[in-house]
Amino acid sequence: MTQESFVDFQNVWLAYNDELLAQNHFAVEDINLQVKQGEFIAIVGPSGCGKSTFMKLTTGLKMPSKGRILVDGQPVTGPLKISGMAFQASSLLPWRTTLDNVLLPLEIVEPYRSNFKQKREEYAERARKLLNTVGLGGYEDKFPWQLSGGMQQRASICRALIHEPKMLLLDEPFGALDAFTREELWCILRDLWTEQKFNVILVTHDLRESVFLA
Ligand SMILES: Nc1ncnc2c1ncn2[C@@H]1O[C@H](COP(=O)(O)OP(=O)(O)O)[C@@H](O)[C@H]1O
Ligand SMILES: [Mg+2]
Repeated sequence: MTQESFVDFQNVWLAYNDELLAQNHFAVEDINLQVKQGEFIAIVGPSGCGKSTFMKLTTGLKMPSKGRILVDGQPVTGPLKISGMAFQASSLLPWRTTLDNVLLPLEIVEPYRSNFKQKREEYAERARKLLNTVGLGGYEDKFPWQLSGGMQQRASICRALIHEPKMLLLDEPFGALDAFTREELWCILRDLWTEQKFNVILVTHDLRESVFLA
């Protein structure tokens, strides 16, 4: 079997709207990129260079103005279910406990959604295990505002992984953290990836981070 690309960008351009397109004003131009199954890559660049735009294209939140994007052999035509995302702000819902925040994707994404009520205990067990691996055992019933920034970020990585996505997209997830916490999370992420080998695309402007992880 030939090793096919897991993410395949072919001459991808994006203008954010028709007006910008008419002015030939593109947010990203002619991206050609192939990522192999299970690969961990980092995208590095200054603010405004198109990193987040690249992420939106990869998950199908934006369609390219020109070119083609394949993920897992399929053309991307809309938001992907096989990916999990985490951002600079942890974006946990303040009225939900850590456990309920982590369970959220299973309440939304099929096939989990249909049997969420019957399987809630099983899913909660999975969430507890995941929280344990990132050092959040014992914090399941705390609310986001009762956690430190680093803990919130760990919880949001668990939320991104709970539905066992084939691809994890991280958009500057450690940017707002202090250096000690950041490096601790690097190791946690490395260990999770070593164990599960999901594809990771990490956006960062921290060169050390990209060198360490990718
Ligand atoms: N919703 C949008 N509408 C119009 N232009 C946008 C939008 N989002 C981003 N852009 C533009 O696209 C370019 C790339 O932005 P972005 O992908 O957010 O960069 P980065 O994540 O690398 O900081 C910038 O010039 C930005 O102004
Ligand atoms: Mg960005």
